[in-house]
Amino acid sequence: MSDSPEGRPSARCLLLKGFTRAGFQFFTDYESRKARDLASNPYAALVFFWEPLHRSVRVQGSVEKVSVEESTEYFRSRPRESQISACASKQSSVIESRDVLTKKTDELRKLYADKEVPKPENWGGFLVKPEVVEFWQGQSTRAHDRIQFRRPKNGEVVDEKMTHTGDDGWVYERLSP
Ligand SMILES: Cc1cc2nc3c(=O)[nH]c(=O)nc-3n(C[C@H](O)[C@H](O)[C@H](O)COP(=O)(O)O)c2cc1C
Repeated sequence: MSDSPEGRPSARCLLLKGFTRAGFQFFTDYESRKARDLASNPYAALVFFWEPLHRSVRVQGSVEKVSVEESTEYFRSRPRESQISACASKQSSVIESRDVLTKKTDELRKLYADKEVPKPENWGGFLVKPEVVEFWQGQSTRAHDRIQFRRPKNGEVVDEKMTHTGDDGWVYERLSP
């Protein structure tokens, strides 16, 4: 989920390409609606849900672009057809018909017939750097477990009763379901 310059939230499904201690990575078009939203307000929220486990994870954090090198490395690892599709599409722009896209894709297939498909300049990754992460475990009684990890506020004293010290500078606490 991102915010438009007018402060209107918008959401879409994305493939989580990876996560490390640094954050959560996804790849997209840097001129898409979400990328424009993130340029004006570089904060995002993510939500993951595992239905069979009744489990969900929510993340809030700041967003930055990943390096061109890293984006290029991932682009090169993608199936050729995905590479061509990324080149053919100006994501989120209005087009007249599907035919326009098919024609463009056919042209690019010919153009790059025996060449490596170059990563479009406007295609790459974003990293969501977590500031708040909530782990939700559903219970059949509806008395669900919610454990929230966050960074301590300036000068906050952790009481180890309501709020507890976690690893790597995080603190955590239980929320009402
Ligand atoms: C399961 C699933 C995975 C998707 N993964 C991505 C992705 O990794 N990157 C991406 O740009 N769009 C992905 N999409 C398409 C987005 O949901 C969305 O349509 C697109 O990014 C344009 O969004 P925007 O116009 O809000 O920028 C995925 C859609 C689905 C349903």
